[in-house]
Amino acid sequence: MKPTALVAGNWKMNGLMSSQAELEALAGMLKDGGDADCDVLICPPFTLVSAFASAGYAGVAIGAQDCHAAQSGAHTGDISAEMLRDAGAKYVIVGHSERRADHAETSALVQDKASAVLSEGLKAIVCVGETEAERDAGRTLDVVLSQVAESVPAAATPHNTIVAYEPVWAIGTGRTPTVADVADVHAALRRALIERFEDAGEGFAILYGGSVKPSNAKELMAADNVNGALVGGASLKAADLNGIIEAYR
Ligand code: PGA
Repeated sequence: MKPTALVAGNWKMNGLMSSQAELEALAGMLKDGGDADCDVLICPPFTLVSAFASAGYAGVAIGAQDCHAAQSGAHTGDISAEMLRDAGAKYVIVGHSERRADHAETSALVQDKASAVLSEGLKAIVCVGETEAERDAGRTLDVVLSQVAESVPAAATPHNTIVAYEPVWAIGTGRTPTVADVADVHAALRRALIERFEDAGEGFAILYGGSVKPSNAKELMAADNVNGALVGGASLKAADLNGIIEAYR
């Protein structure tokens, strides 16, 4: 099975009801731009998931950026995967480096969150990535391989789970690894997925994330085992995201 490519926008803590205009513009560009050989996803903040999903923008799936590992209960301020499914989300990002760093999320917790996502029949986008200090110390593969081993649940399949490699130092900085460095990490992730899930390991989409923009998308997306992009800043403007999707037209 060949992975289905995905271009996913992570809006982080950005977006208001008025941002629906951007989704409308994106749906228009997808229609006018012609078929792209990838799925398209926008993950707005929780407050917009229901509105965006119920508005129904053609060609654009809606997801969320995090969830709690429990289905319900005394967790003030948290949101469960069941609530996200109920709101119309189809995907949930888990283990983003900003969650790992700002909320001390461990890979064990990320795995519990991913399991909660899969239990609701949603797709989990499980993020991994090294810090700059880890890269400088030559520990990139150690770090991402242990994160992926500890964060991806046993119930993962190519249909319900996507892995996203996001070097922490490339997020929001305008810096990216070389295409060869990206391909090395993705090849190592692919080998690890095949070792663990056997033939199914071939089918998992592995996204690259970190300063993806229209000007670098084509070469990054062409690297071996890169099956799409997780896009932060450049996903906030329809024209920029459409420029990245262009890599799949
Ligand atoms: P960026 O963010 O595209 O703004 O670098 C990527 C991400 O954090 O998912």
